[in-house]
Amino acid sequence: MDTRAILVAAGRGERMGATRPKAFLSLAGQTLLERSARALGAAPSITAVVAVVPASDVDEARDLCEALAKPCVVVAGGERRQDSVRAGLAALPSGFEGVVLVHDAARPLVSIALVEAVVQAAREHGAAIPVVPLADTIKQVGDGRIAGTVDRDRLAAAQTPQGFRLDLLARAYERAFADGVVVTDESMALERLGLPVACVPGSSRNRKLTTPDDLAWAERVLRADLGA
Ligand code: C5P
Repeated sequence: MDTRAILVAAGRGERMGATRPKAFLSLAGQTLLERSARALGAAPSITAVVAVVPASDVDEARDLCEALAKPCVVVAGGERRQDSVRAGLAALPSGFEGVVLVHDAARPLVSIALVEAVVQAAREHGAAIPVVPLADTIKQVGDGRIAGTVDRDRLAAAQTPQGFRLDLLARAYERAFADGVVVTDESMALERLGLPVACVPGSSRNRKLTTPDDLAWAERVLRADLGA
């Protein structure tokens, strides 16, 4: 089944405190955009990548993506993450019927094995996402007080890439937009329609880089990989 990846890289990444959008920050000499695009392109099942970047950065992204082993189309994203995903979906070839993976450019350390696990599960179940258990006890808070404790055994943190048969994702997105709902990941759009989403084990290495500390952590991981 033809499988394509949408790489969402159009966020500003305010918590990085940088002037450039997050996907254009350098991690050990390569931008997060390049690293994430290469990581997706290295997975045998992925036939092509759609990179969604800020409108002002489309030309630069096209230069960066030229060296990819797989075909890469670059398009401008939107205000919210879901607007960027929708722009990515619109850039898929007409008549495409396969599986679509949506991945955050802010997770450049994703492994080929994880991408392939999501692809296989999405092909089998129609929808699949990686999840990791929570280490901390999670509290409900309000007015500066603890309002309760959530049963941690029933919770998990969602990662990307999230994989879907295109017909399911397109239907779920259409409904979310028609209903004026904000979704913070793709799975949520399917969940609200009662569509089943399978889980595959995520990875602590596939952390979303949000702050300068996260970027420093990723630099250390890459240095350790090289034995430096
Ligand atoms: O902001 P956050 O880190 O949650 O964003 C997750 C991913 O979604 C990032 O890779 C970011 O570039 C992308 N995004 C986007 N368009 C937006 C907002 C976020 O492509 N408008």
